[in-house]
Order: sequence, then structure tokens, then C-alpha cells
Amino acid sequence: MPNSTQLDKQYVWHPFTQMQDWMQNDVLVIESGHGVMLRDTEGREYIDGVSSLWCNVHGHQHPRLNQAIRDQAAKIAHSTLLGLGSEPAAKLAARLVEILPEGLTHVFYSDSGATACEVAIKMAFQYWQQCSPPHPSKTKYVALPNAYHGDTLGAVSVGGVELFHKIFRPLLFEALRAPSPYVTPPAGVSPGEHLKKCVDGLDAIFRENGHEIAAMILEPLVQGAAGMLMAPPGYLKAVRELCTRYDILMIVDEVATGFGRTGKMFACEHEGITPDLLALGKGLTGGYLPVAATVANDKVFSAFLGEYSDFRTFFHGHTFTGNALGCAVGLASLDVFEEEKVLENLRPKMSLLGRRLQEEFKPHPNVAEIRQCGFIGAVDLVKGREPREEFPSDRQMGMKVCVAARNHGILIRPLRNTLVIMPPLSISEDELHRLLDGILVAMADTLR
Ligand SMILES: Cc1ncc(COP(=O)(O)O)c(C=O)c1O
Repeated sequence: MPNSTQLDKQYVWHPFTQMQDWMQNDVLVIESGHGVMLRDTEGREYIDGVSSLWCNVHGHQHPRLNQAIRDQAAKIAHSTLLGLGSEPAAKLAARLVEILPEGLTHVFYSDSGATACEVAIKMAFQYWQQCSPPHPSKTKYVALPNAYHGDTLGAVSVGGVELFHKIFRPLLFEALRAPSPYVTPPAGVSPGEHLKKCVDGLDAIFRENGHEIAAMILEPLVQGAAGMLMAPPGYLKAVRELCTRYDILMIVDEVATGFGRTGKMFACEHEGITPDLLALGKGLTGGYLPVAATVANDKVFSAFLGEYSDFRTFFHGHTFTGNALGCAVGLASLDVFEEEKVLENLRPKMSLLGRRLQEEFKPHPNVAEIRQCGFIGAVDLVKGREPREEFPSDRQMGMKVCVAARNHGILIRPLRNTLVIMPPLSISEDELHRLLDGILVAMADTLR
């Protein structure tokens, strides 16, 4: 009987993976997890340094979350939300509305970050066709360069990561691109001036095209897949003000930032704003199961109400919409946030991460820049600092450092030549030290 490594190589097609390399190289197959540790089929253990792709919150096999799934499974694993209610879906929706920024009132479930954004995009489109009075010309979207909102075609249309998205361009609708405050200001331009230029640039786009724009979509504070690029404080609030002024819906994609990752429950809280539509995924279930949600305000929701014959219905849904196991574990995850004072306990760990990034990663001769937002750390690797010289992309140095880190009991995944440090919020200070030590040693091993 072939083992799971052989079966994987023979039968599984992995996401974002060059399968020719994969089939030729050693592969690591995960068998179990506990707390922040993952264990492979050979019995080796690793710290889950990217939270199983930015979604795990309270660690693996958290007793409270496991119990919630067992309890729910003893009742029912799944029933449809098409024409029926479901107890955990209803309770979770109410809890989300309670903790989300004030004004977001109606929860539409789906099953991934991409679908949560896709739903928001479609809702915004339909909203303008049937609000009162309708504005049928408002059909365009404004998005940012380097944005990532998932891999379905609507989400890709408002995405802007060239490497992932350019091949699909003929299939996509066009989005207007606003100047990005997430990139380092050009030489001689101060961060304040750069922010102002970006806000003025967005203002100009809205002024000129507002009558045709349905919505603006953005990742709040941090553009994740772009390489953990961070916007200066004030941008999110400025976008909210401009969207209100020009009557454009604001869609905030909190798929990666939601559920404590930035140090607050939601990134929007840092700037005290409420979007019209907000997308959630990843940490919604503590990173356990694929449940996502798009949450709308009353203004959007009410435009979909009417007689059946008005055909204002949102004709969109997925088989596993509002899955009961997923919603039950989502509720338990919110309980754990309160019971274990997760956000309070995160503060010293965010400081520790920041201190070590500054003191030990920043001075490294192959590090061009470090960035931090809450419990997200990013380290840009370069061949030379001054003058800045990038590693050729085909050398995959970021990936090489991550592969070397495995020898030190660390699993992380880079974004090109940026190392991403994003462990579960539940990691202990001791484990966080071990994670950072392991990455530093892997850098020393690889970047000689
Ligand atoms: C900000 C953001 N939006 C959307 C997505 C897509 O989520 P999913 O992979 O669950 O479709 C991601 C995934 O990384 C993300 O970071």
C-alpha cells in the first residue's frame, strides 16, 4: 500500500504550486496538530508559523473548539440555508453583528474568502440596479494595485497581483486603479505627502467617474498576498469619507485581518469606520472549517426587499452556505476570544515580535525592510541593501529560507522574497522566541 506521501505526489494537484518541482522533491505531509505545533507523517514536529495560511487563531485541537464540533455533529453536520434556517448559523450571525463595527446588520454566508468578496462585488452591483431611485450606470469598481481578494473571477478582476492575475485578464472585468498608499513613497516624498497624494488621486477618480462607480474594495491596513504591504494610518478613514461623499459603496475585505490579527478584533476598528459591505473568512471559524461571510448594512440589505415578482432577490448561494459544524465552531471561537482574553494576551506578544524584528532582523545584511501590523510580521530579503539589489526571482530565496527553517522545526511560507511571520494568536512567548530563533538560523544557513 503506497504511503500518503506517494499518494499525494501521484494524485493531489496543489494550489499555487509548480507541480513539476513538487513531484521531484521531498514533500511533507501533515498528520496531526496540537496547539501551535504541526506533526508530519514521519513524526517530526514544527511550529505553525503562518497559522495554516493565516487562518488558525487559537491553535490546533483546541479542546473547546473540538467539543463544539463534536456537540454539533451529534445533532447535525449540515442542512441547507436555501429555504431553511439553521440554529448555529442564526446564532453566529447575531454574534457577528454584535461585535462588528456598528451598522453592519445582515450576514450572508459562503465558504471561502474569495466567495465572501465575490458576493460583496455582486451585491454592490445589484444594489445600484434596484436601489431607490436606481443608478444603473454605476457598474464599475475601484481597486488598488497589488490587491488580493481571492481566486474566483470577480475577486481576480479587482485583484492586482500581476504574477497571479495577468494570465486571466481576457476573462476579467476592468477595475479602475487608485494610487496605492501601501507602497513605500518614492524618494524625496514624505509618508504624509504620499498619503495625501493617494487620497487626492482617489478623490479625482471618484469625482470624474463617480456616476459609474458601484464600489471601492480594499484590504484594510495590510495588503496580504502583495507581501504584507501596510498603509499609513488615516487612509481607511479617508476612503470611508470619500465613498460617502461621492455615494460609492465601500467594501472592506477583512478576510486576512479579521478576528484579532491586527491587535483589534477587526482592522476597521483602528480607524473607527464602518464599510457598507465587509468580507470575513479564514479566522471566522478559528481556522477550523471553511465558513465565510459577507456582512451588509441596512441600506444595502433593504434594496433587495420587495415582492417576489419584483425580482430583487439576491440570486446567489452555495451548497455549504452556513454550514452547521462551521458555524458552531465559529461561535465557540468567539467564546474563546472572551474566556481566554485573547486580545489582551496578544499585546505583549505583539511587542515581543516588534522588538525582535527591529533588533535582530532589521540589521541583517540581507534584510531590506521589516514591517509589522499587530501580529503580522514581514521581512523583505534582498541580495544587497545598499544599493538595493533583489535576488533574481527564479532563485526563490524566500522559499529556500522557509525550506531550511523546517530543519529547525519551523513551518513558514514566503510571499516571493518576503518572509511572513504570522503564528496563531495563541502562541506562547516561549514558542514565539523559538519561531523567531529558527527563522534567524534558517536565514544564516541559506543567505551566506
Ligand atoms: C485579504 C484576502 N481576501 C481574500 C482571500 C481569499 O481567501 P480564500 O483563500 O479563503 O478564498 C485572502 C486569502 O489569502 C486574503 O488574504
